[in-house]
Amino acid sequence: MTNPLEQKLEAYRRILDISKQLNSTLEYGALLQQIVAAVVEILNVEAASIMLQDPSTGELRFEIASNLKPQETERIAVPLDRSIAGWIFTHGEPRVIEDVARDPKHYRQVDSATQFHTRNLLGVPLRTHTKVIGVVQALNKRDSEKFTGEDISLLTVLASQAGVAIENARLFQQSDFIAEIVHELRTPLAALRASTTLLRRPDLPEEKREEVHNLLQEETERLITLTSDFLDLARLESGRAEMDRHPFDLAHLIYDCVTLVSPQASDKGISIYTDVPAYEVQGDKSKLKQVVLNLLTNAIKYNRPDGEVYVSAFVNDMNAFQLDVRDTGYGIRPENLPNMFRKFYRVADTAGTVQGTGLGLAICKHIIEAHGGNIWINSIADEGSTFSFTLPQ
Ligand SMILES: Nc1ncnc2c1ncn2[C@@H]1O[C@H](COP(=O)(O)OP(=O)(O)OP(=O)(O)O)[C@@H](O)[C@H]1O
Ligand SMILES: [Mg+2]
Repeated sequence: MTNPLEQKLEAYRRILDISKQLNSTLEYGALLQQIVAAVVEILNVEAASIMLQDPSTGELRFEIASNLKPQETERIAVPLDRSIAGWIFTHGEPRVIEDVARDPKHYRQVDSATQFHTRNLLGVPLRTHTKVIGVVQALNKRDSEKFTGEDISLLTVLASQAGVAIENARLFQQSDFIAEIVHELRTPLAALRASTTLLRRPDLPEEKREEVHNLLQEETERLITLTSDFLDLARLESGRAEMDRHPFDLAHLIYDCVTLVSPQASDKGISIYTDVPAYEVQGDKSKLKQVVLNLLTNAIKYNRPDGEVYVSAFVNDMNAFQLDVRDTGYGIRPENLPNMFRKFYRVADTAGTVQGTGLGLAICKHIIEAHGGNIWINSIADEGSTFSFTLPQ
């Protein structure tokens, strides 16, 4: 198969096969992996990556890179105005860079953060039916070859298939989200119905009546929290949530949150220690309060009885404000860590005993990233976990 025409045909046949495969994959993570694997194979390159625009900040974020682990790509945001990928995204055109080191637009932070040396690259816009949503890049052509016009056509065809498949997988996720919501609402609704039926019974003893009333109140509260969490998350995911930025003292907010959760902590015999100096930030106070409250509530809920929670704030070596919330709970096993910020994800060991929906951390991540910060976890099984976030100064 040395004939170039034969080779070309074979490449397009392969793309057809791959397109069929992509269109039948609705699981988002698996789909992304299939796309980068296809780019590496068809373009004969060392690595491939997909970046998508983050609706809340407008920046591009790595969704996947074949040469990197998910934890490595997760925190990297690429600015639109100072990167090659940003250029491809805003112009909606493919671009070949033959000597990346010489290109002033090469966003070096990615290579230095990941220890991958990019020599040359080909990038094309990733489109859905209606708009450009990101960029697909093929990195380092193998066998000292250069990217050709043919490569541009191949990657463009592949990217158009990939764009549609990504859109489908996202829509599917959205319908999954709705199914989960309905499922979550059913439990409190069933409890409400049972309670109202019970209260109708004339033979219900007075003390039982009191109990049912309390249950009614609890379940109503739970419904209110649930619906507002769903709404928050839907707004944050679609990029429609506006961050209402004002300067305020974060230490104040943290102390307010500690006061709010302290009854819950004392119920479990948990002590909270704080080391938080005054610090002014620009941000959405009520949304950041939601973040701190969820981290504190988690540190209490998933702690041992009579455990401890340490809240400390400082300016870290990257010159960003950092808040650490450390607990002395059972910790999180390494295999569960990558899922922690996924909506509805709850660690099986505690899901049965501790009340929650698994939305808190997903909401936190959106809010922190919309402020240009990062959020992550360090955890040691049986010793406890530290949840940290940063806010740029
Ligand atoms: N500090 C922690 N220690 C151990 N496990 C934790 C901790 N924080 C969170 N988790 C685990 O992560 C899961 C997700 O947390 P998240 O805050 O998103 O949801 P939740 O607390 O279950 O519900 P809610 O939506 O009410 O916040 C929890 O169910 C729990 O299994
Ligand atoms: Mg929570």
